Amino acid sequence: MNKIYKCIFLSTAITLTCYNLKAQDMPAYLDQKQPIEVRVKDALSRMTLEEKVALCTAQSKFSSHGVPRLGIPEIWMSDGSHGVREEISWDSWNPAGWSNDACTGFPALTCLAATWNPDMAMLYGKSIGEEFRYRHKDVMLGPGLNIYRTPLCGRNYEYMGEDPYLTSEIAVPYVEGVQKNGVAACAKHYILNNQETWRDSVDVELSDRALHEIYLPAWKAVVQRAHIWTIMGSYNLIRGKHGCENDFTLNQILKKDFGFDGVVISDWGGAHNTFDSALGGLDIEMGSWTNGMSSGKNFAYDDYFLARDYLKALKEGEIPENNVDDKAARILRLIFRTAMNQNKPWGSFATEEHFKAARAIGDEGIVLLKNDKRKLLPINPKNYKKILVVGENATRSLTAGGGAAGLKVVHEVSPLSALQAKYGDAVHYTMGYASGPCVYGQVVPPAYSEDSLRSEAIKEAKKADLIIYIGGLNKNFRQDCESGDRLSLNLPFGQDELIEGLAKANKNIIVTLLSGNAVAMPWVNLVPSIIQGWYLGSEAGNSLADILSGDVNPSGKLPFTFPVKLSDVGAHSFGADVYPGVNHKETYKEDIFVGYRWAEKKGIAPLFPFGQGLSYTTFKYGKAAASADEMDKDGKIKLTIPITNTGKVSGKEVMQLYIGEENPSVPRPIKELKGFDKIELAPGETKIVTFTITPGQLAFYDENQKSWRSESGRFKAFIGSSSEDIRQIIPFKLK
Ligand code: BGC
Repeated sequence: MNKIYKCIFLSTAITLTCYNLKAQDMPAYLDQKQPIEVRVKDALSRMTLEEKVALCTAQSKFSSHGVPRLGIPEIWMSDGSHGVREEISWDSWNPAGWSNDACTGFPALTCLAATWNPDMAMLYGKSIGEEFRYRHKDVMLGPGLNIYRTPLCGRNYEYMGEDPYLTSEIAVPYVEGVQKNGVAACAKHYILNNQETWRDSVDVELSDRALHEIYLPAWKAVVQRAHIWTIMGSYNLIRGKHGCENDFTLNQILKKDFGFDGVVISDWGGAHNTFDSALGGLDIEMGSWTNGMSSGKNFAYDDYFLARDYLKALKEGEIPENNVDDKAARILRLIFRTAMNQNKPWGSFATEEHFKAARAIGDEGIVLLKNDKRKLLPINPKNYKKILVVGENATRSLTAGGGAAGLKVVHEVSPLSALQAKYGDAVHYTMGYASGPCVYGQVVPPAYSEDSLRSEAIKEAKKADLIIYIGGLNKNFRQDCESGDRLSLNLPFGQDELIEGLAKANKNIIVTLLSGNAVAMPWVNLVPSIIQGWYLGSEAGNSLADILSGDVNPSGKLPFTFPVKLSDVGAHSFGADVYPGVNHKETYKEDIFVGYRWAEKKGIAPLFPFGQGLSYTTFKYGKAAASADEMDKDGKIKLTIPITNTGKVSGKEVMQLYIGEENPSVPRPIKELKGFDKIELAPGETKIVTFTITPGQLAFYDENQKSWRSESGRFKAFIGSSSEDIRQIIPFKLK
């Protein structure tokens, strides 16, 4: 008995000693059980000044330094936000030529926003995060959160539309989904990178109200609700300072007011000066080896603004050491959350599950804009012997090109091949129009004659029973593409004339536009059915065929207004000083009135309003009940609205809540989106939708008090199926 106790005692003592030794030997920064802040502090205390400074710059095109002596790994980044970009060379923008890096192409973020479905955003974030994790990336350079201010902006397809509330509600679950994988999301481009013309040099001036009410909310939401780990500074200037070196937007607003504890990464080549970068809130400088695009120097990474010169300024006391301590602490925190996170999952890459997710997101984001009483949609194949597909986008790759968000995908199902798979030999094809090849920064004219393509298509249209037109924009320079804006709201490559000709030749025409931007539709009244299809990624054709055939009932809603003409847009209602700027200076004179807020204030009827999207079924909104018609500053009002599917097929509807103040003390939009709910209903089914209104939702940014404030008065809650199709107005008071 005694022996047994002795034995137990001895072995416990030995284990404890070993454990203690291990615990003592293992530095705290390596101990995953320690709180992250303890690890950060410990690592910092072991680092030299040189090592801290090194953390703050790139070591290659898409990676930044670790601390090799301490076993702290580098940070690897790659572009998102619609798939993992192909591997890029160490020191140049050229592809590295790997054969194992073709990813799943997910739909563009405009399409995700058009789902108006936070569950889809979570699925998207989780799936794409798994792909980044599998590819050993620590940071995904996305999502893009810039607000859709003008339909000309070349990168709108990477963003989530014109409304700060919708953008926030989609961005938060997306970021959470990505970061579950131990991969940091890097929301970009902070802030006011709302155009590509002069993106490196345009200096934006705007009111505090526009900044806080329109342009900042999504950033605040990803910081405070999704706890995002990194944010990318923008190229442009804000009130005279570049986005990556802007004390006001980075230090004061993002880090201090919002409480961001992560890393500010520069856009590639977005840093310009050692002191401004160091003191202006930048943490990691990327892409400055060259001007970001063309030529470079020897020993390039030492020449970075936050490298040798930064070290010198720290050593000479021109910049205080706590400046680099703060940056290094943020970067270590990021490394512990990502590269050194031993609890993260393994990820997966180009899987069936991801293709399914991409298709489901595409299915929910496609918007049915018009389907007049002839109801060409969904297509009943029995009615048509010959279906003519017209348009270059029926066959063209739309995942490649467009700039940093361009993808090398494992497959891309074209609309034509999906329609052929569905309707077999009935499907015929003619190109109708042609764009040129996709060359970054250049418009290359097409090799075909516009006239002959058009005449051929019109001739064929006369012989067909149904025309499915598949056109829109593409990822070429001056279309939906980085580093240049579009030059016109109209469709390019003679498509307006072509569509008009086709519609006159054959009344049975469905127009499908694939784009990330609104376009003018001078032919809108000639065409019975119109679909807005976005860029849909690897499963593009399948998603489109799902909707055209009615296998899936459309439920997407526009995340931005389609104006009739450019001058209907706030940013285009003034002179060049408001867009694109004069002498690289630009003032947002439309102020808080962006998108539908402008159209409603001015009484301008849009071509298709924000929030618009039809269905193959019908929904009846029942009478809303309000829990009270008055609330005090700590109160709330609950609205309940029954909704019934009164048609013959199941469908999803997005019920939207907008709120407006009746006699505000400052100019305010007539109404603003404050809630939405996507509900699925079987035929005949009724569900009750609930919205809770709180005083916070009634607030505006008070420029005098420099804070949000809601004022007593009369308000209206608008319940609608789009911003224009308002089914009920419920008045209430804030005491
Ligand atoms: C783009 C960023 C991108 C970066 C790296 C920049 O030119 O503006 O969105 O993440 O390049 O490719």
